[in-house]
Amino acid sequence: MSQKISGVKGMNDLLPPTSAVWQYVEKKARQMFDSFGYLEIRTPVLEDTALFVRSVGEETDIVGKEMYTFQDKAGRSLSLRPEGTAPAVRAYIEHAVHNLEPLTRWFYLGPMFRYERMKTGRYRQFFQAGAEAYGAKEPAQDVELMDMAMQFFRAIELPGVSLEINSLGDDACRPAYLSALNAYFSGHSAQLCDDCRARLQRNPLRILDCKNPQCQQLAKGAPAMLDLLCPACRAHFDEVKAKLDALEIPYRVNPRIVRGLDYYTRTAFEFLAADPVLGTAGAVGGGGRYDKLIASLGGPDIPGIGFALGLDRLCLLVAQGNRNLGKAPILFVAIVDPGSQAVAMKLISGLRRQGFAVDFDTRGGSLKSQMKRADKSGERFAVVLGEDEVSKGRARLKPMQGGEPRSVALDELSSLLKNLA
Ligand code: HAM
Repeated sequence: MSQKISGVKGMNDLLPPTSAVWQYVEKKARQMFDSFGYLEIRTPVLEDTALFVRSVGEETDIVGKEMYTFQDKAGRSLSLRPEGTAPAVRAYIEHAVHNLEPLTRWFYLGPMFRYERMKTGRYRQFFQAGAEAYGAKEPAQDVELMDMAMQFFRAIELPGVSLEINSLGDDACRPAYLSALNAYFSGHSAQLCDDCRARLQRNPLRILDCKNPQCQQLAKGAPAMLDLLCPACRAHFDEVKAKLDALEIPYRVNPRIVRGLDYYTRTAFEFLAADPVLGTAGAVGGGGRYDKLIASLGGPDIPGIGFALGLDRLCLLVAQGNRNLGKAPILFVAIVDPGSQAVAMKLISGLRRQGFAVDFDTRGGSLKSQMKRADKSGERFAVVLGEDEVSKGRARLKPMQGGEPRSVALDELSSLLKNLA
C-alpha cells in the first residue's frame, strides 16, 4: 500500500461546514471595510526577506525565529509574509500612491506564515483581515480604526472582545525610555535568557515581549513608556482616549502592551477575547501607529496606522456559537426513473441559470435514497419527476418541512420558486 502524505504541520485544511463560518466572517469583514471606505489590496505571499528584516525588525521573534525563508533559483532570499503591514507599505511606496491621494485607506484578507509553536488558535499558516491608513497623523485616524474593529466584533456577534491601548512614544521620547529599560535590565542581566542578553544592547524593548517565563517575570517590574512620554506623544494619547470616550468605546490603558514588531510609534492597541477556548491565544487582533515606517523603507515621510485581526481565532469563537450559517439550496430535484434524468437536468440547468440554488443527485439511484439526501441537506422543497407526469409537462412539488405535495407545471416552477423564496 502507498504511504499517505499528510498536510504540513500547523497549516489547516478548511472543509465544510466550517468553511461556511469563514465565509460569513469574511463577508462581514468586507462589509465593514466597505462602510468605512477602505479599499482592497492583494499583495503576493512572498516578499524580499529584507523587507521584513528592516520593518518588523531583526530582533523580533517573528523575524529572528519564525519566518519561512528560502533562496529561490536565482539565489534571492525570499520569505513567506509573516504579516501584512510591511507588504502593504512596500506596495504603497512602489506605486507612489501618495502622489494620487493624500489619504489612503486599504484593507486585505489573506494567509500569513509564522513558524510558531502550535496550539489552539496559533498556527503556522493563519489568516488576517487587516486595515491600513496612510497620510493621517491625527488621533481621529487611530480612533476610526478602533471603532471599525469594535463594530466588526459586534457585527459578528462577539460582544466579549475588549480593547486595550498604550503609547510607545516616538523619536523624541523613545531613546530615553530605551536607556531606562537598558539600565533596569542590565541590573538583572544574569536572569535574562541568552536572546534577551543580546537584545539588551540592540533593542531592549523586545525583552518585554520575550516568551521566556523568567524574562516575563522581570519585565513586570520594568519602567513603562507611558511614564516617560514627551508632551506631543502625551497630547496625542490623551486625545485618542477623549475621542474613544466620546464614541463610548470602552477601553483599558495597558502600559504593558509593546507589540512584537519594531515599527510602532505612539498608539498601540490590542483586541482581547477572554474566551477559555483560546487559552493564552486570546488576542484576536492588534495594531498601532507606524509614523516612521514608510520613510524608513525608502518612501516619503508619511504617517501610517493600522490593525490586523486573526481570522482563525475569530472563526473559532463564531463556530462555538453554534449558529446555523450554512445556506442550503432552495430546491432538490429527484427522479423516479432513469428515463426522467434528461428532463431533470434540463430543468435544473435552466433554474440555475436564473440564479436558483438547486441540488441533484447525479448518481441517480432509488427515490428513497435521493429523498434521504434531500432531508439531510436541508432544502426547503423537492421536485419529484416521474415519466408519467413529465410527459404532461408536470411534476410533484413537496415542501420538505411537511405539508402536502402538489402537482405543478414545469414551466411555472421558476415563478413559483420566486414567490416562495
Ligand atoms: P500581530 O499582533 O502580530 O500584528 O497579529 C495580529 C493578529 O493576528 C493577532 O492578534 C492574532 O489574532 C493573529 N495571529 C498572529 N499570529 C498568529 C498565529 N500564529 N496563528 C493564528 N493567529 C495569529 C500584526 O501582524 C500587524 N501587522 C498588525 C498591524 C497592522 N499593525 C499595524 N497594521
